[in-house]
Amino acid sequence: MTDVHRWEVPGRVNLIGEHLDYNGGPVLPIAIDRSLTIKVRSRDDAVVNLWSDLPGSTKVSFGTGVQPGEVEGWATYGAGMVWSMTQAGHDIPGADIVVESRLPSGAGLSSSAALTCGIGAALNELFGLGLDRTRIAQLAQRAETDFAGAPVGMMDQLTVLLGEVDHAVLMDTSVSPPTTTTVPVTWEEDGLTMLVINTGAHHALADGEYAARRDECERAAAELGLEWLSDATLDATVRLTDDTLKARTRHVLTETARVRGAVSAINRRAWAQLGTILTASHASLRDDFQVSCPELDVAVEAALEAGALGARMTGGGFGGSAIALLPIDRLSAVRERVEARYASHQWKPPQTFVVHAADGAHRVT
Ligand code: GLA
Repeated sequence: MTDVHRWEVPGRVNLIGEHLDYNGGPVLPIAIDRSLTIKVRSRDDAVVNLWSDLPGSTKVSFGTGVQPGEVEGWATYGAGMVWSMTQAGHDIPGADIVVESRLPSGAGLSSSAALTCGIGAALNELFGLGLDRTRIAQLAQRAETDFAGAPVGMMDQLTVLLGEVDHAVLMDTSVSPPTTTTVPVTWEEDGLTMLVINTGAHHALADGEYAARRDECERAAAELGLEWLSDATLDATVRLTDDTLKARTRHVLTETARVRGAVSAINRRAWAQLGTILTASHASLRDDFQVSCPELDVAVEAALEAGALGARMTGGGFGGSAIALLPIDRLSAVRERVEARYASHQWKPPQTFVVHAADGAHRVT
């Protein structure tokens, strides 16, 4: 019986900087204290077995030479990570991998990045591959784009690997790989908390809308002769002929400015100002980038009505989760208001939970 290694791998919420990680802009996510547990042990027969406690999942087995299209469902991400590592020339002799989740999947909280990066970090250590965290994030991104077919940026992977307790991770995505610094987040010391509202609405990055936004941003940057859309000026958007591309560009530029404003507000503990910036980000994602949905809009409105300082959708959008920054003594009021507004639409009650900034993937035993 070979050794079993146990890893804890967090999900993430993005505080601000949405849809900027493929536009060369800054992003400011936190790893959260909702995680996956991943247990691994080695095999030497070129077989990978994956088990999970996700609803409806069964054991999935594949060879270490697995190819895109050969594995479906939740296990795609695990198989994609093994594929990405072997494609890059790293030897994976075989493994048994068990995944237990306290991180809702399909909630826009990066359970897929937690899975790819957690497996990557665990196999890296198990087989002494010598990869650093940024390299693991790059391989995980490749698993998502080229194996699972979701053309994502690198924000989620870097966050679940490099997150730090009580800190946000500020990334500069204009360089490849993105560079990161940490920003202390201290709102809890001032009586505030961050609530996640998981709308339960459909969230599927691979279903075309995410790729469509990415394509629009690339077209706008090309029309302006820029490598990165986040480098455009507001004046330059006048030169764009298409109204949709103008609106997408407006979001990218205003969001880039909001990230800078948010970092400054966090450093000054100017929480009301941070809240205003978060809410403005939501409006921009709803109106200019058009990646929100009724369930997210109602969650944000209800949180604000009940006393949140700010609220916004987080992650790719089209469902998933919203976050709200609120005084701890408004927590029940916000929850009740969100539930009441959902009930009035006859929507299933959303799942709500408080999150704290947590450490990135780490081995526990
Ligand atoms: C998803 C992607 C990220 C990022 C966000 C939007 O979470 O995985 O790379 O693009 O959407 O900010």
